[in-house]
Amino acid sequence: MSSGGPVIAFANVSLSRGGAAVFTGLSLQLSEKRIGLIGNNGSGKSSLLRLVNGLLLPDSGKIALFGLDTRDHRKALPGLAGFLFQNPDHQIVFPTIAEEIAFGLREKGQNAKQARDAAMALLAEHGHADWAGRPIHELSDGQKQLVCILAVTVTSPRLLLLDEPFSSLDLPTRHDLMNRLNTLPQHILMASHDLELLADFDRIIWLEGGTIFADGPPAQVLRAYREACTARTRPLLQAAQ
Ligand SMILES: Nc1ncnc2c1ncn2[C@@H]1O[C@H](COP(=O)(O)OP(=O)(O)OP(=O)(O)O)[C@@H](O)[C@H]1O
Ligand SMILES: [Mg+2]
Repeated sequence: MSSGGPVIAFANVSLSRGGAAVFTGLSLQLSEKRIGLIGNNGSGKSSLLRLVNGLLLPDSGKIALFGLDTRDHRKALPGLAGFLFQNPDHQIVFPTIAEEIAFGLREKGQNAKQARDAAMALLAEHGHADWAGRPIHELSDGQKQLVCILAVTVTSPRLLLLDEPFSSLDLPTRHDLMNRLNTLPQHILMASHDLELLADFDRIIWLEGGTIFADGPPAQVLRAYREACTARTRPLLQAAQ
């Protein structure tokens, strides 16, 4: 596995979904520790994240993760890149919370007791020791999202792919998790509509219709995106008055 090259490399990638082009000849190299993905609904953020972890394969072109072509190494990818789905219901596999969190640790070789103990300890750390045996379907959307984040981060994969990880979380949990994520050594690629969360990131990529509309430091790209959104909504607001 390459250590000197980019963490993620897209080379001339094209992808269609539902018969329509999402990406056409996209090339991109990503190595910064914290990278944010922004853009309007349907701009391609989730599709890009799914290409990185091999959930989607490109129609043409190549994607490499730590030097490994996603087409040839699909089995290795989940161990390298933890993926948080935009919708927790697409992520959750197990009936109870402790099982969901323990699963990744079992995959990494821990025995059932070690994995369960670690899951219980993590829940206790987040003030939810009483959740361990609870059925996941009883949780609220935000609580499910928290369980999914814990399940993805507990195995410490080298890269975290987070698709709007905090959309359903209350403010205290959002800030608590963001502070924790900021202390993690892993690379993070995170799609978010909550621009404030990305203000301290190293690099922001703004997707628009599957192309990179802007790419640079947060101060520059987030401001440009905000201004564009304001310019677009102002006429609508004026018309409504
Ligand atoms: N399961 C699917 N089948 C067919 N087309 C899809 C599917 N999921 C997404 N698409 C299409 O791919 C394009 C990009 O969608 P994607 O989900 O990547 O956008 P996004 O930037 O993540 O949007 P959002 O902000 O709403 O999450 C859209 O045109 C969408 O209609
Ligand atoms: Mg999305």
